[in-house]
Amino acid sequence: MNIEPTIAGLRTQLIRSMMPHEIDMSLELIEKIRLLKKEMNVVVLGHNYMTPDVFYGVSDFVGDSLGLARKAADTNADIILFNGVHFMAETAKVLNPHKKVLIADPDAGCSLAESITAEDVRGLKAQYPGVPVVTYVNCSAAVKAETDICCTSSNALKVVESLDSESVIFLPDAYLAKNVAQKTDKKIISWEKGKCMVHEQFTPRDIQAARRQYGDLLVVSHPECDTPVTAESDFAGSTSQMEDAIRNSPRKNIMLITECSMADNLRAVFPDRNFVSTCQTCPHMKKITLPKVYEALLYLQYEVEVPQDIIERARKSVERMIAIG
Ligand code: 13P
Ligand code: SF4
Repeated sequence: MNIEPTIAGLRTQLIRSMMPHEIDMSLELIEKIRLLKKEMNVVVLGHNYMTPDVFYGVSDFVGDSLGLARKAADTNADIILFNGVHFMAETAKVLNPHKKVLIADPDAGCSLAESITAEDVRGLKAQYPGVPVVTYVNCSAAVKAETDICCTSSNALKVVESLDSESVIFLPDAYLAKNVAQKTDKKIISWEKGKCMVHEQFTPRDIQAARRQYGDLLVVSHPECDTPVTAESDFAGSTSQMEDAIRNSPRKNIMLITECSMADNLRAVFPDRNFVSTCQTCPHMKKITLPKVYEALLYLQYEVEVPQDIIERARKSVERMIAIG
């Protein structure tokens, strides 16, 4: 999605999830950030979990991991500022080795990415020789460099099914692997240490309790949740697919089983729906704040660096995924 609303339009979007005095403070900074962006030919990519001020105020494109990787692959901008977590900015760098890629806080990590190293992948390849390795993009470029193809939550099944092999090593998300395993005949070898610290918090009981309260509830979850949670949901998919599921449903009451900013951002898109409150905050995504975004452009910090040999090997896996769609 391509967005850059006018300041008046922005106020209307932000009022659904921010207090008026917070909006006034943010608008001042948003105008400064927009000026810097133009002066330096910067494209700002914003993940769906960014807070509404960052998401609506300063992003040129917003979306899920796959959508943003695609935008990173075909930008003409001189500088990419990635408002999301570090592995996402690294993926943008892998696709644009000659461009400056910035992240407003280099410590914005991910529990999935931290669960596995390149050495772990080499160990698995030695244990299962010849078995293709799929890595969920939520991992470091060094891990991607060891693998055959990447996937995101929006195309994981399609990527697994595209491989000419009866078994597939699927890393690092154990729950996404379980969700994929339920839909394919292939044997999925997973990495049990890989869990999203946000989505592993949800339980089927959260959904059952809400269903008792709201008769016409649409429950939409992310496949980083365990399978009993996705089984209780009406739909499970990537953050952008979650938005589409709401658009395609006539139901009024919506329960999102995911990070808190999703509902904050979608309230502006679906003003006639009631978002039933339940969410978990990702401490990594929340490291990206509007003042840090301003400083990132002012001081051109923090530059994402990836060694050249890793870029070359990781790029093959990412480009194979983009080609599959
Ligand atoms: P999406 O690709 O669905 O946006 O997911 C990224 C992510 O980190 C979810 O926790
Ligand atoms: Fe990683 Fe989970 Fe945060 Fe997404 S929500 S960035 S998977 S810790």
